[in-house]
Amino acid sequence: LKGEAVLVIGRAQSLDELRETKIKYLGKKGELTRVLRGMGSLPPEERPVIGSLANDIRGCLDQMIAEKEKQLEEASLLEQLHKEVIDVTLPGIKPESGTLHPLQLIIEQVEDIFVGMGFEIAEGPEVETDQYNFEALNLPKGHPARDMQDSFYINPEILLRTHTSSVQIRTLIEKEGSVPVRIICPGKVYRRDDDDATHSHQFTQIEGLVVDRGVSMSELNGVLLTLIEKMFGEGTEMRLRPSYFPFTEPSLEVDIFHPEQGWVEILGAGMVHPRVLENTGYNPERYTGFAFGIGVERIAMLKYGIDDIRHFYNNDLRFLRQFKTV
Ligand code: PHE
Repeated sequence: LKGEAVLVIGRAQSLDELRETKIKYLGKKGELTRVLRGMGSLPPEERPVIGSLANDIRGCLDQMIAEKEKQLEEASLLEQLHKEVIDVTLPGIKPESGTLHPLQLIIEQVEDIFVGMGFEIAEGPEVETDQYNFEALNLPKGHPARDMQDSFYINPEILLRTHTSSVQIRTLIEKEGSVPVRIICPGKVYRRDDDDATHSHQFTQIEGLVVDRGVSMSELNGVLLTLIEKMFGEGTEMRLRPSYFPFTEPSLEVDIFHPEQGWVEILGAGMVHPRVLENTGYNPERYTGFAFGIGVERIAMLKYGIDDIRHFYNNDLRFLRQFKTV
């Protein structure tokens, strides 16, 4: 019996098998237990001999099983460690980071430049009243200059703003006659236009407005030159051309000289029209100001060599990803 049990214990491959073996030989109904129970039928003088023999065997098997159990446990632990091993030297999966849209890049650069000159950043709604978009800017209904900005009307009094100049009005009204006013306002604007490589029904402007005592045209000139040199490099040539906007007087258009494209217009500007100051509660006898409206798409196209305005809204990742390192 002992010999057989020793063999079976030695062969056990798993903890389960070992447990079964233990039950088979040492359990309540096990074979060794049966021998001990049968002792009653032995002659009295044989009982101690068989008894101690059976106990020896039990002790011996107990010890063997315990040893085997330890062995099997160690083996299974090793196997588990092996299976679950983590190779910390494997390269990780890099989370892909997005890129700033080129228009956003331009907006942030321009914001930095103007914040450096003491401007604050203002905002206004894209759905605007006719009053703020036109009327208060000295563009009454029927004014021919309204035709320059074909508009999306929601009803006769509400439209999608055609320029960020409406924020000039909002800012001045909010300031309630106090100075200085020095703001820029980036934002989307809308005009009825057939989209092609150079036209878009929706585009982006950055409005600028300064109102204070004694603000002069030469300050406007200086601010614009700073902007242009910081955006396009020192020594970039700037040209001012007389123009017309109902809300500035005099009005001008600003071109820069681009090495490949020659003179290109990038913004409109001028001295704030006295009527705009009056309309917003500023005394034009005491205060003067200047304003400008930058075409963000224009600047981005010139700066990054983009040939079609539609790239800005087609969301082609091959286009957008090129601005990762800008
Ligand atoms: N609002 C004008 C436009 O959209 C630009 C402009 C802004 C001109 C401020 C003068 C002063 O064309």
